[in-house]
Amino acid sequence: MNTNIIGVKIPKEKAQELISLIKNENNFNSNYKITNKKEQVIIPIKKITKSLEDYKIVELENPTKQKEHGLSFKEFLKKEGLKEQELKQIPNSYDIVGDIVIINIENQEVIKNYSKHLETALKKVNPHIKVVLNKAKEHHGEFRTQDLDWIAGENRKETIITENGCKLKTNVEEVFYSTRLATERKRIAKLVKENEVVGVFFAGVGPFAIGIAKLAKPKEVVAIELNPTGVKYLIENIKLNKLEGKVIPVLGDVKKVSKKYKDYFDRIPMPLPKSAEMFLDSAIYSCKDKGIIHTYNFVSKNNPFEKIEKILKEKEKENKVKLKIINKQVIRSFSPAVVQIVMDIMVCKK
Ligand SMILES: C[S@@+](CC[C@H](N)C(=O)[O-])C[C@H]1O[C@@H](n2cnc3c(N)ncnc32)[C@H](O)[C@@H]1O
Repeated sequence: MNTNIIGVKIPKEKAQELISLIKNENNFNSNYKITNKKEQVIIPIKKITKSLEDYKIVELENPTKQKEHGLSFKEFLKKEGLKEQELKQIPNSYDIVGDIVIINIENQEVIKNYSKHLETALKKVNPHIKVVLNKAKEHHGEFRTQDLDWIAGENRKETIITENGCKLKTNVEEVFYSTRLATERKRIAKLVKENEVVGVFFAGVGPFAIGIAKLAKPKEVVAIELNPTGVKYLIENIKLNKLEGKVIPVLGDVKKVSKKYKDYFDRIPMPLPKSAEMFLDSAIYSCKDKGIIHTYNFVSKNNPFEKIEKILKEKEKENKVKLKIINKQVIRSFSPAVVQIVMDIMVCKK
């Protein structure tokens, strides 16, 4: 080995999913080609991130430099004839969900004049994508959905994602789904012990519930979601992954539905980072003694755990329980001042 160029070695059939994750994290080393071995590929990366910890990292033996293939999406746009002034209005990063790109361009003129160029440049960097959408508005409302305008490619908003070996169908506009928590969902699935009863609050189209049912051996996973379209896809995804009877879809408000599940769950993931703390009473009520709650929250970057720790102290008194924090982590940065955290909390009722 005579180089410091590193890559992730992975079986071919799993490569597409990992390439999307690496590109979403802006970690793809586009100066080098993906190495094709017999049944494996090596994906060149810039650095070893947390989400790659479980993968085999190797040095590229004879890394092949790319010329055209190594260009970034913006460099391709430049080749397509866009001027600096126009390029400045186009962000460097974008999200990929299945075969859909979601980009955020504010200037409507840029979109109108360069939609074809955008599609061409995006497809050069991500050959598998088929649809380009523009994020008109951030995630909003009770269902945490986003408004998306079609820019180019096939005119649809539905796609199938492969995540942690699960297939998840979704409509990127009508239901919340983000690839950014894929690694965290795998972490939770790995914690689930055989025969656990899991309650996924805020289940969406099922990435937590289906991931847990597929990667672990729970007795039952109850997936609760308020958005009827989310539950429609959740039911479809349960069938798609052959998990009928294992994952139970429930349409409804967690505050009401949880009343039917007193001391029922061994584990409750709560992926509603805008306001999960408002549902802690329900989670405590539904959790067995010594069960675990995983709460996700958006908090200030400075002293990230302070706010939720304070709330947990209040919840202990109100619910007459002990809440032991057994793990706390910053998962990702959300904006310059805000990070997303997870806290794993054991509920002690006796
Ligand atoms: C941030 S999304 C998470 C979706 C999914 N678990 C994921 O990780 O992609 C939060 C979800 O909670 C749902 N939701 C919001 N309030 C709810 C409530 N009171 N009861 C049940 N679901 C709710 C929203 O419709 C949305 O699908």
